Amino acid sequence: MKSIPKEFQLNEIINHTEYLINGKINQWDGKQASVFSTLLCDVSEKEPQLIGKTPEMSGDFALKALEAAHNAFNYGQGEWPTMKVYERINCMENFVEKMLSKREEIVKLLMWEIGKNLNDSRKEFDRTVEYINDTIEEYKVIDRKGATFQNKSGVRALIRRGPLGVVLCLGPYNYPLNETFALLIPAIIMGNTTIFKPAKHGVLLIAPLLEAFQESFPPGVVNIVFGRGREIATPIMKTGKIDVLALIGHSSSAISLQDLHPQKSRLRLVLGLEAKNPGIILKDADIDLTIKECISGTLSFNGQRCTALKILYVHEDIKDEFLDKFSKAVDELTLGLPWDNTLLTPLPEPSKPKYITDLIDDAINKGAKIINKRGGEKQKNFVFPAVLYPVNKEMNVYKEEQFGPVIPIISFNNISTPIKDMSESNYGQQVSIFGKDVDTLGPIIDSMVNLVCRVNLNSACQRGPDIYPFTGRKDSAVATLSVHDALRSFSIRTFVASKDNELNKNILREMIDSKKSHFIRTDYYL
Ligand code: G3H
Repeated sequence: MKSIPKEFQLNEIINHTEYLINGKINQWDGKQASVFSTLLCDVSEKEPQLIGKTPEMSGDFALKALEAAHNAFNYGQGEWPTMKVYERINCMENFVEKMLSKREEIVKLLMWEIGKNLNDSRKEFDRTVEYINDTIEEYKVIDRKGATFQNKSGVRALIRRGPLGVVLCLGPYNYPLNETFALLIPAIIMGNTTIFKPAKHGVLLIAPLLEAFQESFPPGVVNIVFGRGREIATPIMKTGKIDVLALIGHSSSAISLQDLHPQKSRLRLVLGLEAKNPGIILKDADIDLTIKECISGTLSFNGQRCTALKILYVHEDIKDEFLDKFSKAVDELTLGLPWDNTLLTPLPEPSKPKYITDLIDDAINKGAKIINKRGGEKQKNFVFPAVLYPVNKEMNVYKEEQFGPVIPIISFNNISTPIKDMSESNYGQQVSIFGKDVDTLGPIIDSMVNLVCRVNLNSACQRGPDIYPFTGRKDSAVATLSVHDALRSFSIRTFVASKDNELNKNILREMIDSKKSHFIRTDYYL
């Protein structure tokens, strides 16, 4: 094995013992969970390597975090939800500046903890910083729009967006920084208070940010606890004191957490869940471009993206050419360590290689073949992507969101086949359609926009750019995220209305001039 570049070496086991509750960084002296990296347990059959320890906090501490968030919100009377918008923005600007100094440390941990390659780890960090800066700018726009009075049918109104309350934020392991912050940051800036528990992988990389959170926000606004989801989130949800469950992950977790809440209609949901985005390749598709997009679509970060292309439909007329060229392109990919910047890297979940192998075996038993030469080659921390054809609906790889390196392919003669499958699917996030003929594409696009929430033309599915709406139909999402939409999702419109008479006009004028209210104002934040 090549030696690890000096700047990416981990010189010692990271003993992380800190957590943040009510503005205090405390030391945890209880049970700890071990953090393992699968990076080096390759063909040599070495076991995953211990790289750190992190607090395995109990439900009591989760409830302390909840109490801190609840008190900081204080039924909307707390310092944070009533603070002037520009003061909240100042806190966020302060945070992002401190966060920037942690880039190298966090990028290194992204590689070790989840195996994301160097370029993508850097992109995850930089994209998150950009997301925060864009959120700040967008909040100013929303605030400016809220600075005008309307007057209709003799009722004058000043309508703004206000916070919802206490938000529980749970992010996924594949984007432990970006997707978690894409929930946390808009939630905070809109005046909510939060409890945040890092994902099951990608935990150590949050530790370098505790101080930045502590120094940037008033006590109780951001509370960060570590431990198992069940242990931490269960008691919190049972209290009924959570106003928003913000989760990107699996629907099974989202459903069981919702079920614990005693007053369901009070619980707002912001969820990004499973998807099975199809790539549909028409007979006039530009094959080389399609192959390039399907490689990145199916296999960026080894297919561990909710937006990954998880099933390909190829027109019968070009099936042979596509399968041949695509399989060769897959076989040319190299597996490396994250700092080698290869597309394929070790899988962070020790159980994933077996799961993927089981999917492949099940498909073979039900009639599929592995089309590419290297497909299914297994080592302790990886399975080489298998291109499976022909796939049918009985196979688990058709039914399940594989979230890993295996590519099921189905051929079709009539576009009604993939469209029917999409209609019957439980998921409805995105689709990629590859083709050129406008007469054919037009009606297909018109059908698909009503089955999913983003139709990608001759392009792989993806979430970004983050200013675009990210959402899904059916079981794929609840609420919409984008820089703008997330601010809406974590807030509610609330307004002051008054009958249009002299008394009220005078009060409002005086209120604006005297700046006695943080809500009734018409100033313009630059
Ligand atoms: O895991 C799902 C992510 O939202 C995908 O984001 O398309 O930018 O990789 P991405």
